[in-house]
Amino acid sequence: MEIGSEFWLDDVLTEQKREAQWVRKFGNTVLTTSGRGAISLLLQEVNPRFKSVLLPAYICDSVILPFQKNGYHCSFYDVNKDLSPVIETIRENREVGIFLHMGYFGFSTNSNLMEVIGELKRSSAIIIEDVTQTLFSDFKRYEENDYYIASVRKWMGLPSGGLLASPAGEIKNTLPEDKSFAAIRKEALLLKAEYIHKKEESLKKQYLNLFSHGERILSEEPYPYRIDSLSNNIMNGIDVNKLVKSRNNNYQRLKKGLNGIGFIEPVFKDVPENTCPMFYPVYLNNKRDQIRERLSSQQIYCPIHWSRPEQISANNFKNARDIYNRVLSIPCDQRYDWRDMDRIISVLGELENDRSLIRGSE
Ligand SMILES: Cc1ncc(COP(=O)(O)O)c(C=O)c1O
Repeated sequence: MEIGSEFWLDDVLTEQKREAQWVRKFGNTVLTTSGRGAISLLLQEVNPRFKSVLLPAYICDSVILPFQKNGYHCSFYDVNKDLSPVIETIRENREVGIFLHMGYFGFSTNSNLMEVIGELKRSSAIIIEDVTQTLFSDFKRYEENDYYIASVRKWMGLPSGGLLASPAGEIKNTLPEDKSFAAIRKEALLLKAEYIHKKEESLKKQYLNLFSHGERILSEEPYPYRIDSLSNNIMNGIDVNKLVKSRNNNYQRLKKGLNGIGFIEPVFKDVPENTCPMFYPVYLNNKRDQIRERLSSQQIYCPIHWSRPEQISANNFKNARDIYNRVLSIPCDQRYDWRDMDRIISVLGELENDRSLIRGSE
């Protein structure tokens, strides 16, 4: 079986259910079709003192997009190799209207912000935590957070899914329904399920086209729309404990199996309690793209989080630049078990003997 890439959807649950309770841990929530939609909705809710946002320099360009579309001035702060924010590069900024921070890959990499968040708050900045990658981790969040946003659709097979939450205040929820994005992704997810079960190659092209179509719609109009009812039902039906457990088990299997493979440097040494990993992120040498290609020739698809957005200069953010150039995300999600992880380990282990690939590594 192939490993990685988009999820799929086996069952279309039609039963109408209430909103998933597990999202309530973030406060009053509104579910949107996408993370971008959640940010756009947030920007309708707030009136910051300055129309500016300070974002981490290690970020997905889709987070920058809604701020730019809404006329915000975007500045960035650097991120260390261990993915913690470089505090001095936060303090260099004046007139911050919105401050956005996040933990990466499930880990509380943003846990060093306590003091600086206090300072920002005292100068009236609105504090947002992007919990896309730490959605199922249960560590304590900052009391100073004014809002949470997330792209939920990154964690399971959902036609659509974003979240805006406020720990204290109500959020106005009169969002229009989305007509196209969720429908296209639903078709893609169902076709992918058919492909996974029947292994008919012709289906692959069809669902890949549909997934790209969905992404195009989002990048053209990152507006807030209400989540579709099927996605709502799926979110409600998900077994959170099972999801967390299987990701942790898979992560540990990879950690043990990849330990000792010289060209792989894990981003994190250990998994602290209450952490639910999103991927098993590693740093590779300058042959990352070839290694990634070899994996994909074995139907193991490892995403890169992320391509460096054009707004972030490689010269000004040298730490972030190195992360963008070297990081690779190995899937460890709930679709898979130890057998799949062992297959990844064995393919990577074989690459170590491939001198053309590994020789010349730093
Ligand atoms: C950390 C993070 N936040 C927000 C988003 C935006 O989510 P969406 O693609 O659902 O608009 C992304 C997208 O990749 C992301 O990686």
